[in-house]
Amino acid sequence: RKTAPLPDDIRARKGGEPLVSLTAYTTPMAQMMDEHCDFVLVGDSVGMVLHGLPSTLGVTMEMMIMHGQAVARGLRQAMMVIDMPFGSYEESPQQAFRNAARLMAETGAGAVKLEGGTHMAETIAFLVARGIPVMAHVGLTPQSINTLGGYKVQGRDDAGAALMADAQAVTEAGAFAVVLEKVPANLADQITAEVDIPTIGIGASAGCDGQILVVDDMLGLFTAFKAKFVKRYAELGKEGEASIARYAREVRTRSFPGPEHIFADQAPGKG
Ligand code: KIV
Ligand code: NA
Repeated sequence: RKTAPLPDDIRARKGGEPLVSLTAYTTPMAQMMDEHCDFVLVGDSVGMVLHGLPSTLGVTMEMMIMHGQAVARGLRQAMMVIDMPFGSYEESPQQAFRNAARLMAETGAGAVKLEGGTHMAETIAFLVARGIPVMAHVGLTPQSINTLGGYKVQGRDDAGAALMADAQAVTEAGAFAVVLEKVPANLADQITAEVDIPTIGIGASAGCDGQILVVDDMLGLFTAFKAKFVKRYAELGKEGEASIARYAREVRTRSFPGPEHIFADQAPGKG
């Protein structure tokens, strides 16, 4: 059995073989990816993907802790990172520490992730200095959807310099890796060349130091919409619905349960 990498091991992968990551929210999903991923993110995307919320803003600490505990039970060799939900860290470094410590203590996660660049650098430094490894997340930050004005590509044209500054700020603050979400590929490549921590792309570039996707997106289980950056590796949602339709037909025609699914009066081989 391999042991889970530490944040420093992830950081040391800068420039090497790409880091592999997916989100997970449940034990069976975590078990499915444990051998194949370097780290697994308990993302606040859980709110939209599993709870039917319209955005990630309604996700609570309690939801993150419950899903984090479920994921932890399914992981043996991948590192677990957990998202700090909206409202749990923005107010002050002290608030962030209190909630990050709770997430780690109650779930066993090895690190937290939070959204924001330059304006969160002070908080990242505060957490790292107190024993909490932080993965940063810049570019499209879904918790700020109401001020960003939609799920648009970030850092185009004049906004590129500010996004580069965000990536540099979180690096200097001590983040061990940074997610780049929905940014132009050439900017993602420039940031990857510029900062000395791994960049984890989602809608960014194959040149990033790693990639992450929402697992329900790539398996075709979440189908409310599909972002351009999602590649569907399976259509489990369609297959699931077809299976349920078949079950319904078989129940209505009394062809399920069949002889192999029912019990005789006497146990076989007895009497
Ligand atoms: O919540 C999430 O799933 C994420 C990833 C998409 C990076 O933050
Ligand atoms: Na997230």
